[in-house]
Amino acid sequence: MLNLEKMQKHLLDLGGTYMLNHARRCLVIAKILAEKENLKYDEDILTFSCYFHDISAYKPYRPDGAFDHAEESAKIVPALAAEYGITDTGKIETIVEAVRYHDKRGMGLANETRLVRNADAVDYLGYIAVARDFSKQHSDMTKAVAALKKHLNDFSALLELDSAKVMAEPRIKKLELFLREFEQETFGLY
Ligand SMILES: [Fe+2]
Ligand SMILES: [Fe+2]
Repeated sequence: MLNLEKMQKHLLDLGGTYMLNHARRCLVIAKILAEKENLKYDEDILTFSCYFHDISAYKPYRPDGAFDHAEESAKIVPALAAEYGITDTGKIETIVEAVRYHDKRGMGLANETRLVRNADAVDYLGYIAVARDFSKQHSDMTKAVAALKKHLNDFSALLELDSAKVMAEPRIKKLELFLREFEQETFGLY
């Protein structure tokens, strides 16, 4: 049984509520998608992968210079999984796959991999995407809008499951509307 409280504290210490609640939302969304798609999953694998898929983006795990955060996170999770009492090598392999391919369309075979990737994509679309990018770039709205446009494009392209597409559709519309209205309201000055 995973120590959820300890995992949540770990994420909170690394990246505040931004990181913690992204991880928690990922898990909530992944479970909704699993139910709609009738996909079986292992509770520990899905939970652990959702919680730690972005871990390399945060110090002290963050490497210097440019890096592929999914690839780097995949290198970190085996030791971390052991730390949290996951000893089954098969489970660890699946966690590594889910983390490694969480931003690589169509890659990996496990249900958990597809669930994490599609859930992560849904969580970067809609009002939540606006909040995430503006909070990250709180003193540079030009950068926030550029990031938002890129995320809209990149994460829409990662949606594979029909249920994820259905869930994302209104989010994408809201995000497109936001971008249009924001441009108008600000006269392009932001
Ligand atoms: Fe990520
Ligand atoms: Fe993520």
